[in-house]
Amino acid sequence: MPGRIKVQVLADADAVARAAAGVIVSLVRDNPDAVLGLPTGSTPERTFEEVVRLSRAEGVSFAKVTTFNLDEYFGLSGDHSQSYRAFMNERLFKHLDIRLWNTHVFNGLARSPEDECAAFERKIAACGGIDLWFLGIGTNAHIAFNEPGSPADGRSRKVPLSEATIAANSDGRFFKDPNEVPRHALTVGLGTVLDARRLLLLAMGEKKAAAIAASVKGPVTTDAPGSLLQHHPDCTFMLDRAAAAGL
Ligand code: GLP
Repeated sequence: MPGRIKVQVLADADAVARAAAGVIVSLVRDNPDAVLGLPTGSTPERTFEEVVRLSRAEGVSFAKVTTFNLDEYFGLSGDHSQSYRAFMNERLFKHLDIRLWNTHVFNGLARSPEDECAAFERKIAACGGIDLWFLGIGTNAHIAFNEPGSPADGRSRKVPLSEATIAANSDGRFFKDPNEVPRHALTVGLGTVLDARRLLLLAMGEKKAAAIAASVKGPVTTDAPGSLLQHHPDCTFMLDRAAAAGL
């Protein structure tokens, strides 16, 4: 039955990051073998800083944690500064005691995207599934790189990026020029995300308000991939006031 998304509106982006980090670090404290799904982008940056600070302050070890990332640009090596592997290593992994061999990001240079994606799904299953998938959302309500129209039961695969996503990711925060942005990515599917035991989506700023309104209040439709999260039994959105403006 749709409409189950729990919404928490916090004072500002910093409060959202602190609250989200609290959820992640508590989960690892209670379950040191936790399997986490992780996003990249601007949204998780502050949360990752808080995860590092809080886990050190509270002595919570990530040594037995396993992670899977949502997506990776196709055609970029993990050494490329704009690859999501590099982002994760720099922003999170190198600051924790996590074992790099327990962190999984698609290989953007895989010769066979099909084999790479099938292996990724098999690894998630072999780890017993994802305990918590931490998510961001695109301005067009995309989840990972599942653009509008992506199937609700989709699995990991190679996808083309929409012009809107290419523009959003070349506004100077990451790439400086749209021509530098790869045209394809490897992404988990919406089915892969919905299989997680728990979902935590963060959104901050007015640019996300329409995507959040469509996801929380709108009809469940593949036109707004975020709305498919209404089908998940344990999904929380943590928002700042600007992102919640349309609710
Ligand atoms: C990107 C990523 C998504 C991310 C979203 C929002 O293109 N593929 O996983 O959640 O778009 O990004 P940001 O947090 O930078 O707004």
